[in-house]
Amino acid sequence: MTPSQNFVNDKTQQQLKTVLITGGGSGIGFATAQHLLRTGKYRVALLGREKPKLEEAAHKLGGASETLSVLPCDLRKTSEIRRAVDKVASQHKGIYGLVNNAGVYPFGGVVSTTEEQWDEAMTVNLKAPFLLIQSVVEYMSKNSEGGRIVNVSSTAGLLPNHFALAYSVSKAAMIQLTKTAAKELGKDNITVNCVCPGIVRTPLHDAYHRSQSEAEEFYAKRGATFPLGRVGEPDDVAGPISFFLGENAAWVTGDVFVVDGGRLLL
Ligand SMILES: NC(=O)c1ccc[n+]([C@@H]2O[C@H](COP(=O)([O-])OP(=O)(O)OC[C@H]3O[C@@H](n4cnc5c(N)ncnc54)[C@H](OP(=O)(O)O)[C@@H]3O)[C@@H](O)[C@H]2O)c1
Repeated sequence: MTPSQNFVNDKTQQQLKTVLITGGGSGIGFATAQHLLRTGKYRVALLGREKPKLEEAAHKLGGASETLSVLPCDLRKTSEIRRAVDKVASQHKGIYGLVNNAGVYPFGGVVSTTEEQWDEAMTVNLKAPFLLIQSVVEYMSKNSEGGRIVNVSSTAGLLPNHFALAYSVSKAAMIQLTKTAAKELGKDNITVNCVCPGIVRTPLHDAYHRSQSEAEEFYAKRGATFPLGRVGEPDDVAGPISFFLGENAAWVTGDVFVVDGGRLLL
């Protein structure tokens, strides 16, 4: 490489915006990473509990590099969250975007939900996103271009899912976390928005079913009842998330964006 090519490469690297994605090893988080990397405008840091799963995801995305890093982090542990944010910021010289995507889905209603299930849903789906927002603000407020936060809630946060008490409550609270943070952080040019996916074909949803064939049968039957005639794919949600991270959403904050193929209209 010639010195001038090196200079162009360095300059391009400097212009890339770093986005941290929790739950980036699969489903919606992985698809979002793919979307962002394809634009050539971002650096992506994938967070998740399992290093091999993250490394496999990174391999599918073209391998860990200047534009892609992976960080094992259990969102139930505050110290790991703070450490991961600081590490991403120092590795990539700051943080521009945060996608609070990781989530757990415990089954249970009013009587059957255990205290452990409640605590896990509130910790992973709500407390961790709060702690992450708190941690990234320090870095985003130093950026001349501000920062972008996207929370992945759920239609269950607007209309509770059957037998998913802790999940629905945590996702509803995430919507209020979005609006409250948006109101406060606007002064630092940090936008905070929220997407509410409906049924999306991902490992989290597959796990509701006893087998993959049962899951596929469910997706086909249920999807056919939606106005758009199908359940969602991770890419369907990655697009709106990318929109909120991009330049066309500079004046959008506190928004709650439903991505559900029209399901809530039924
Ligand atoms: N699929 C749907 O129908 C649907 C609908 C509405 C909303 N959503 C939301 O979409 C988001 C992404 O889910 P998905 O559907 O794409 O399923 P997914 O592929 O299973 O993603 C969930 C992610 O959460 C991560 N995670 C769970 N517990 C964690 C912990 N303690 N620490 C760190 N990471 C943890 C998992 O990473 P590791 O296992 O690697 O740790 C996993 O990558 C979730 O917030 C979910 O509630 C999904």
